[in-house]
Amino acid sequence: MTAAAPHLEVRDLVAGYTPDVPILRGMNLSVRTGEIVTVLGPNGAGKSTLIKAIAGLVPVRSGSIQVRGQSIVGLPTHKLVGAGVAYVPQVDNIFTRLSVQENLEIGGMATPAELPQRIGEMYALFPDLARLRRLAAGKLSGGQRQMVAVA
Ligand SMILES: Nc1ncnc2c1ncn2[C@@H]1O[C@H](COP(=O)(O)OP(=O)(O)OP(=O)(O)O)[C@@H](O)[C@H]1O
Ligand SMILES: [Mg+2]
Repeated sequence: MTAAAPHLEVRDLVAGYTPDVPILRGMNLSVRTGEIVTVLGPNGAGKSTLIKAIAGLVPVRSGSIQVRGQSIVGLPTHKLVGAGVAYVPQVDNIFTRLSVQENLEIGGMATPAELPQRIGEMYALFPDLARLRRLAAGKLSGGQRQMVAVA
């Protein structure tokens, strides 16, 4: 039996905020379809930088990032989203002045026809958010904000 091809494959990734200071120096990661992978490490180790490089927010200096065998390096955001890449930032992850409902509506802007169904699914997944749908997202707790960001 051959192993399934990886869904996400990061090879020899060198990435960082400035060309002279690479934060990731030859990072490798392989994630199969349906697999959940957690990256652990001390504060400042480069976990968020890895995720930001995958999401196109930190320049890739060398190496490759592939989703289903296709390179995603340099793709514009809408194409990344189309390829199935989504990113929940650690901080500043919601629109604080908008309501919970409005945050979710912005998240689904690219697929308006599916919006009511998808928002319904998110309220089913996070019942707390359904109750808080009219509240300004800036009034939520840290964990509740993370729920909005994931949704
Ligand atoms: N915007 C930035 N500009 C320059 N350097 C940055 C920037 N963000 C992070 N760094 C640096 O990159 C390194 C890795 O930071 P990163 O945020 O990836 O760590 P982390 O593993 O996610 O840490 P934590 O567990 O604290 O979230 C650190 O030395 C940090 O100072
Ligand atoms: Mg981090």
